[in-house]
Amino acid sequence: MLRIGIVGAGTRGRMYLRALRTVPGVEVAAVADASLPTAEAIARDLGVRTYPSHTALFHGERLDAVVIATPDFAHRTPALDAARAGLHLLIEKPLASTVEDATAIRDAVDAAGVQCMVAFENRWNPAFVRARAAIDSGTVGDVVAQSAHLSNTYAVPLSMLAWSAQSSPGWFLMPHTVDLAIWLSGKRPARVYGTGFRGQLARRGIDTWDGIHALLTFEDGTSATLESLWVLPESMPSVVDFKYRLIGSDAALYIDQQDQGLWYAGERLEFPATSVLEVDGTPQGFPTWMAISFARSLLAGKVVSPGVDHGLLVTRIVQAIHESAEDLEPRWFS
Ligand SMILES: NC(=O)c1ccc[n+]([C@@H]2O[C@H](COP(=O)([O-])OP(=O)(O)OC[C@H]3O[C@@H](n4cnc5c(N)ncnc54)[C@H](O)[C@@H]3O)[C@@H](O)[C@H]2O)c1
Repeated sequence: MLRIGIVGAGTRGRMYLRALRTVPGVEVAAVADASLPTAEAIARDLGVRTYPSHTALFHGERLDAVVIATPDFAHRTPALDAARAGLHLLIEKPLASTVEDATAIRDAVDAAGVQCMVAFENRWNPAFVRARAAIDSGTVGDVVAQSAHLSNTYAVPLSMLAWSAQSSPGWFLMPHTVDLAIWLSGKRPARVYGTGFRGQLARRGIDTWDGIHALLTFEDGTSATLESLWVLPESMPSVVDFKYRLIGSDAALYIDQQDQGLWYAGERLEFPATSVLEVDGTPQGFPTWMAISFARSLLAGKVVSPGVDHGLLVTRIVQAIHESAEDLEPRWFS
């Protein structure tokens, strides 16, 4: 039996609990959350033992693996303690929101010899899985240009995330598109340039970037442009707008994830999320499949992927984008 603990019982922690419980051979032993009302709510709603901290969880349960689903800036301490306790790790994206923290996690994982997967969930998203299969088949040719727009309405920084001032659209959203730009092209960025703008969120009491734009130039001179905003109007039919365009030498791929296959036109138009849902009482959708893949890989003794080195690379790039947005100088990668 693989015994898994979850640290952070918010939106994502709940998804992981529901998903991992479905895997034969897995027991979700308990959940830790720093907020007592949150811990009490998940214990009541989902019938799981809870602890007030990851240290209490690690002392109170015999675990094999742990999921870290704390806010972006709070992955380091539970991840380091888990690695030192010999636990395998599934860490939410970004691996960490500083290169220093991400490097410390990578070093602790390497020193402990544990496995670590970083939750770049679009690797399980059917549209991107099909895109990657087309690229692998050779019909798309060389990937010469990519453009990604992944943004949220004001609802995410103003209502959904209590910690948005300690993150940014760059840290919360761009790890996904940086990961995809590398994974789909098979290329590594050589130069990163970022710009950004502030003001709208600051006026509403959240002192962070309103939007970040990035230009990644790969070693062969091809490029990807990325945009992530936190200031889309709340009248949008979904809190997420996600559009991806990939141009190859022989074919092009366009992906639009703003609606997830369902338009609901009631008093206003809404695009209900279908990426996390239950079918016949069983959780489905690509974040669920990612969580299941992690558990199945560990049960089968396989190496988990995407791993900690890739998570560190993405954090290095996203930090470089933010630094470049501050001083408008490009950053170079070797
Ligand atoms: N689509 C995605 O890939 C996706 C979507 C949402 C969030 N995320 C990532 O998942 C992580 C969690 O996001 P969320 O939306 O679930 O946030 P959330 O605010 O809903 O939940 C975070 C929880 O962690 C708890 N917490 C904070 N510090 C803690 C600590 N030190 N120990 C234990 N618990 C602690 C909070 O009380 C809260 O309940 C973030 O890194 C975020 O970027 C990924």
